[in-house]
Amino acid sequence: MTYASLEVSVMQYFMELHINHKVPMLLVGPAGTGKSFLYQNMLLFKLPKDDYAVDFITLSSKITANELQSIVVSKMVKETKGKFSAPDNKRMVILIDNMNIVDPEPLGAQPPLELLRYFLENEFWYDYEDSSKITLNDVMFVAAQQNDGANKHKISSRVLHHFNVLSINTFNENTLSRIFSNILLIALKQNGFTQEVWPTVQNMIAATIDIWQTAKSCLFATPKTPQYIFDMMDISKVMYGCSMVKRPPTAERNTFYGK
Ligand SMILES: Nc1ncnc2c1ncn2[C@@H]1O[C@H](COP(=O)(O)OP(=O)(O)OP(=O)(O)O)[C@@H](O)[C@H]1O
Ligand SMILES: [Mg+2]
Repeated sequence: MTYASLEVSVMQYFMELHINHKVPMLLVGPAGTGKSFLYQNMLLFKLPKDDYAVDFITLSSKITANELQSIVVSKMVKETKGKFSAPDNKRMVILIDNMNIVDPEPLGAQPPLELLRYFLENEFWYDYEDSSKITLNDVMFVAAQQNDGANKHKISSRVLHHFNVLSINTFNENTLSRIFSNILLIALKQNGFTQEVWPTVQNMIAATIDIWQTAKSCLFATPKTPQYIFDMMDISKVMYGCSMVKRPPTAERNTFYGK
């Protein structure tokens, strides 16, 4: 379930614009700001299904260029030898997630990203098995990456300059509260609660965000735990748990948990 705040709507507008005009875009932002979530929402639910085929590739630190080539090619339909296109004459949009996680070689190159660059420049590849030419018709890439964090690497400007780079920021407390209170309220209504739980929902969100903020400010790195990662996923998990509460048939009007 997506909550459309102003930031979310703006981002969705730009995603759609880039995809319609076939311009590769790269969304950059801190962990847990909804980059993958927004792309998934756009690709799976907002793009017309008759016109677009979509797929998702999440890069790992050890992925090789050959592996990336065979993953991309396996998502396309073979027309003739060396010619691939999207299924049913659609346009293919592939999300490359975690773009900057690929480990650089000793001299700094990141072969899977260079492979992408080669495609964006020339619109074909050479097959890694027999060096024959492979053309992929009607395919475009969109990408996402964190702007900082452990195991994240700087990607080369040669690759970067093919993408329009957009940044997304951590939501402030107000937006977080609005996002999750709406999501939780809708879920609880589906479980039989009425609008009367609204104050309780807001208290639950406020308490969760408060604990989260306190943990962020109190939990310092120690030799045993050198790094903590706090992101929206933490709050999302608590809310997911809360959204499973069902209203028992005997509950009083103001009772959240029935006995
Ligand atoms: N607009 C939104 N509406 C509802 N939930 C959201 C929204 N944005 C983010 N979330 C929640 O935040 C969680 C984290 O989002 P997501 O995994 O997409 O972050 P990310 O930026 O891709 O993080 P990472 O950089 O670690 O990959 C999602 O599981 C989702 O539940
Ligand atoms: Mg992500």
